[in-house]
Amino acid sequence: MKVLVVYYSMYGHVHALANAVVAGAQQVAGVDVVFRRIREFPENVEHMKKEGGYAYQVYQGQQSIPECTLDDLRAADGMVFGSPTRYGNMTAQAKALIDSTASLWLGGDMEGKPVGFFTSTASTHGGQETTLVSMMFPLLHLGMLIVGVPYSLPGMIHTEARGGTPYGASTIAGPRGELQPTAEDLAIATSLGKRVAEVTLAVRAKK
Ligand SMILES: Cc1cc2nc3c(=O)[nH]c(=O)nc-3n(C[C@H](O)[C@H](O)[C@H](O)COP(=O)(O)O)c2cc1C
Repeated sequence: MKVLVVYYSMYGHVHALANAVVAGAQQVAGVDVVFRRIREFPENVEHMKKEGGYAYQVYQGQQSIPECTLDDLRAADGMVFGSPTRYGNMTAQAKALIDSTASLWLGGDMEGKPVGFFTSTASTHGGQETTLVSMMFPLLHLGMLIVGVPYSLPGMIHTEARGGTPYGASTIAGPRGELQPTAEDLAIATSLGKRVAEVTLAVRAKK
């Protein structure tokens, strides 16, 4: 059974959550975890290269992770999908991958596959929930089964400046990206990965 963990990250926060999701999915026996990053726009690569700043370092640090292809999506039995927020929505890079799936939609290739979500915002109320839900809309069109995060999970009910939502795992990066995911953010991401893997096994075993 294959669980695809696929993400986009410009400054590393969603990448850190993705690593935690992978660790959680790997805890489930009988699941092969496939780890993929979403393709960066070539013009962004050029821009980042010219600037030579932190984003380019982060980009270079992700080169060992293969780019996600339509075949990866087709082959997956379950998926966990991550993107930082852009104005309360997923990134254009993540949307571009989703918008390339017309052949999968036509073939019903993603139908009945469980999917969970994770995200990062700069600020506390910068749109974690809206971004997570924005990723759900198209994947519902593809016929996927949404998996959230239950409130029984430790760290879910809180009033602290950190992530953790019923719609998916999340973190707060800070206005300059100066924060890192908290231990609770990572633990929730790990639990989400495990949960999606378990649901995938249960749902897809019957196929
Ligand atoms: C064009 C643009 C729009 C953004 N919009 C928001 C936003 O609506 N709310 C917010 O909190 N952060 C916003 N951010 C900040 C990013 O979400 C933040 O850099 C990201 O969560 C860090 O994740 P990463 O390290 O994985 O790239 C925006 C950043 C950019 C470049």
